[in-house]
Amino acid sequence: MADLRPLAWPPAPIKTERLVLRESEARDRAAVIELNASPEVGTYLGGPRPRAELERTVPEVPGQRPGFFVVELDGATIGTIQLDPHAPSPPGDRRLEAGQTELGYLFLPQTWGRGYATEACTTALDWFAAALPGEPVVLYTQTANARSMRLAAKLGFTELERFEAYNAEQWFGVWSPATSPA
Ligand SMILES: CC(C)(COP(=O)(O)OP(=O)(O)OC[C@H]1O[C@@H](n2cnc3c(N)ncnc32)[C@H](O)[C@@H]1OP(=O)(O)O)[C@@H](O)C(=O)NCCC(=O)NCCS
Repeated sequence: MADLRPLAWPPAPIKTERLVLRESEARDRAAVIELNASPEVGTYLGGPRPRAELERTVPEVPGQRPGFFVVELDGATIGTIQLDPHAPSPPGDRRLEAGQTELGYLFLPQTWGRGYATEACTTALDWFAAALPGEPVVLYTQTANARSMRLAAKLGFTELERFEAYNAEQWFGVWSPATSPA
């Protein structure tokens, strides 16, 4: 069982060539609702969530937890990256150890195709590797999610397993500093 050390949180805002990664603030709420209500974003994530429900349930400051990064471009929120310790898997599912860190990413569709997700996730993984040296990160994505599959490969995730769930083929991969590209 993974014994994840606590993440030092929040970090100071991290600047990349084009983006800023930072902890969430109240001004990110509208973008977080947009991301979760977007049919395009939700295509391979079980579908969009009703906007009215999100307006009711998303807290004033969304995503206030260690590992939840907001990604900003020219002052506008364009996406989120999550590095979350995973809840224990159901009995019999030995893919994920309790506490193991899982990467997730959501970007607004109008920003796709410009390399922002690659730039932001690379930076988040570098930050994670410095914060918890040697700790692997896992990723689930549907194999039909071509953009996500390409991103996972570019980030240096390697396949551990494919399996069927939610009526779709799922891809389960792992990243660790030792196996990722320099
Ligand atoms: C998955 C997701 C983040 C990928 O977004 P993306 O914009 O395709 O990813 P990238 O930032 O890696 O952009 C890559 C594309 O930008 C292009 N690009 C343009 N300018 C670039 C630049 N300056 N640098 C790098 N790439 C650039 C690349 O060539 C690539 O093009 P391609 O898609 O034709 O191969 C996005 O589709 C998304 O948010 N999906 C919904 C959420 C989801 O499904 N998440 C997965 C489960 S966790």
